[in-house]
Amino acid sequence: MTIKRIGVLTSGGDSPGMNPCIRAVVRCALARGMEVMGIRRGYAGLMENDIRALGARDVGGIIQRGGTILYSSRAPEFRTDVGQRRALRNLAQNSIEGLVVIGGNGSLSGALALHEKGFPVVGIPSTIDNDIYGADPALGVDTALNTIQEAVDKIRDTASSHQRVFLIEVMGRNKGYLALMGGIITGAEVILIPEVEATLEEVASTISDAYIRGKSFAIVMMAEGAKLQVQEVAHYLEERQVGYEVRVTILGHVQRGGTASALDRLLATRLGAAAVEALFAGESGAMVAFQGGEVRKLGLEEALSREYPLDLGLYELAKVLAK
Ligand code: F6P
Repeated sequence: MTIKRIGVLTSGGDSPGMNPCIRAVVRCALARGMEVMGIRRGYAGLMENDIRALGARDVGGIIQRGGTILYSSRAPEFRTDVGQRRALRNLAQNSIEGLVVIGGNGSLSGALALHEKGFPVVGIPSTIDNDIYGADPALGVDTALNTIQEAVDKIRDTASSHQRVFLIEVMGRNKGYLALMGGIITGAEVILIPEVEATLEEVASTISDAYIRGKSFAIVMMAEGAKLQVQEVAHYLEERQVGYEVRVTILGHVQRGGTASALDRLLATRLGAAAVEALFAGESGAMVAFQGGEVRKLGLEEALSREYPLDLGLYELAKVLAK
């Protein structure tokens, strides 16, 4: 039996590419003769029946817009059986027969819960943290890395003009992908990530060696989830007098916003199209993701039960490149 109407929602932290992805879902579904309902504010809106029809024109002019026109939220209540049942009632009431969920780990866990209750769902991994197994990269990561690159390039100008060491904290929750890749693309002297132990003493001696070797400035790229805290490292470097003046920049939510990069728009479009095709073909409980240069499909259960394998060989490479 073909699905006549699907729903789409964005959930969790917004990430660049969500809007072009919604656009692809809507237009590909319409092309397949399905109607699309936009669910606002993620699972919160699904539980509160904040649902309205989306036509081709509703997604016009959003391909270049950051954020999500459907709004997003974190909805802890959706983790409960009561919350999920309320959502299922609203889906039935709106005659929605399949759902596309665009979001990170928590959002995809919600999608899996609906699938396990018998509702057809397909997930699209979208998070700047790049912490989802089977997605490399997840939607939004490329844009976030470009934002980090642009910001750090600017900070390097000041760092070099004033012979400073800058500690730059990036997002990533409890994972180090953004800091590791961000550190490599900006030539950081030190990268601190949760996956690798480091001591204050090691950081200080690497920075003071860089000073002695004649580097005019230094960058320490820190994941927000690193065991050493940014202010703690800053105080230690000041006390140890590593040669440079010390400054801290926390990049924060600037990493989540902005127009999606060319790569993220392509990913958004291809993943949106693949999710619609999967639902149209009667599939459920799948995640469509980009991996090895191709769009692939794997079970949500598998994706969520495994860890994204961070390539620590790149951590070693970054150390070589910082010499
Ligand atoms: O998961 C995306 C993310 O930006 C993380 O990197 C960060 O830890 C978290 O969300 C911040 O969440 P909020 O926007 O709710 O403060």
